[in-house]
Amino acid sequence: MNTKRLLESLWSDYIGINPQALSIHKLLKQAGEPIVNDHIAIRTFRHAKTGINIIASPFTSLGYHGEAEYEFPEKKLYARFYKHPNPKLPKIFISELKIDTCSTFLQQTVNALIDQLGNTLAIPADFVFNGIPWKPIPYKTYQTLKQESEYAAWLSAFGFRANHFTILVNTLKHFRSLHQLNEYLKQHGFKLNSAGGEIKGSKEVYLEQSSTLAAPVPVSFADTNAVIPGCYYEFAYRYKLPDGRLYDGFVAKSADKIFESTDSKAK
Ligand code: NI
Repeated sequence: MNTKRLLESLWSDYIGINPQALSIHKLLKQAGEPIVNDHIAIRTFRHAKTGINIIASPFTSLGYHGEAEYEFPEKKLYARFYKHPNPKLPKIFISELKIDTCSTFLQQTVNALIDQLGNTLAIPADFVFNGIPWKPIPYKTYQTLKQESEYAAWLSAFGFRANHFTILVNTLKHFRSLHQLNEYLKQHGFKLNSAGGEIKGSKEVYLEQSSTLAAPVPVSFADTNAVIPGCYYEFAYRYKLPDGRLYDGFVAKSADKIFESTDSKAK
């Protein structure tokens, strides 16, 4: 699978469960905006069969390389982002939950899911946009996981796919700031994640980010159907570093709050 096909597959899966992203994409396109995708985020569990290196492999085999890493101690997450030599291609931001630091219940639940993957330590490229590679979990298990880790609950229910795409606001023509874009989106009825303020980050850390709140989507659990928060759309405004280059990395403190966009408790 080539890079274009991989990225298109991630996008079509993503808009399938996050139609609001397609609505925003269309809204901006109709306004004549060129849309550049800053990064795509994927979630995983730290495990020999699903760790970051495994999930990154479809991308690294296409020329992506690991660039920088981040720790999110409160959420027990570690993340690394990958860049392609072609600067027009989006960065890939992969985070993993350090399950060995979680409760026995969470470890047993997650290990039982990963056990269903068989013994291979290699994944095909379509693994990263095919959703859950395990049987659906019971709804109660989802709810129990959610009390401990919203991230683990989301990943157990939705599996491997883009958790969010991100519009690079710098390249939009009619919006001079992230604030302007946020106001425009709210006027059009989209709800933004305001955990930690609508705009995370600042000029001082060279990156501002905002995101929609994940829209609820119907999911088939083992025992019932339920409507739970799915994916969200993110917006990033990057500032120039003292040397004149646009800042290319992430800000752990901001991303920490962005993770909460899939939390139904987020307001
Ligand atoms: Ni992001």
